[in-house]
Amino acid sequence: MTLDELEMKCKGCTNCELCQGRTNLVFGIGKKDADIMLIGEGPGENEDLQGEPFVGRSGQLLDKFLDSIDLSRNKNVYIANMVKCRPPKNRDPKPEEQEQCIKWLREQFKIIRPKIVICVGRISAQRLIDKDFRVTKQHGEFIDKNGTLFMGTFHPAAILRNPNNKELAFSDWLKVRDKINELGIQI
Ligand code: URA
Repeated sequence: MTLDELEMKCKGCTNCELCQGRTNLVFGIGKKDADIMLIGEGPGENEDLQGEPFVGRSGQLLDKFLDSIDLSRNKNVYIANMVKCRPPKNRDPKPEEQEQCIKWLREQFKIIRPKIVICVGRISAQRLIDKDFRVTKQHGEFIDKNGTLFMGTFHPAAILRNPNNKELAFSDWLKVRDKINELGIQI
């Protein structure tokens, strides 16, 4: 199956109750065979309206981080979320919602086959790296999982709330740049 075919299938998903509130399902965006994949939490209001991940204020900050290391959703990364439909009032996605939606994410992983996965924020880091993941303690660390490198970093929305962490987040993205070079990944 191609990524486009998977997206078509996914758009009709009714596996959890989040489908009831969606304007658009937010499947993901970017290079279809990207070596670098980013996983956020879930769509917010703007993402739900536009059907694309990270298009609001935190998305603008994320794009700045990416741009600073020559990465871009238009060129060489793929961006998705733990859940594809907006949780009401932007609450955290429930474990059972994540459990349903991760099935789609696994299919995306199988098709895209990224070499590096960046967990943007606590929700995806705790589901994909370690259930006790602490962003403030473990951000910027690469962990090899069956040949794919995973790293967790600050969510841009958290940085907008607490700009003190901006430098730390920036240093994480520089580590991504270093890792790309170290692995000889052509971007
Ligand atoms: N926050 C996320 O985690 N994902 C989005 O797509 C937008 C905001």
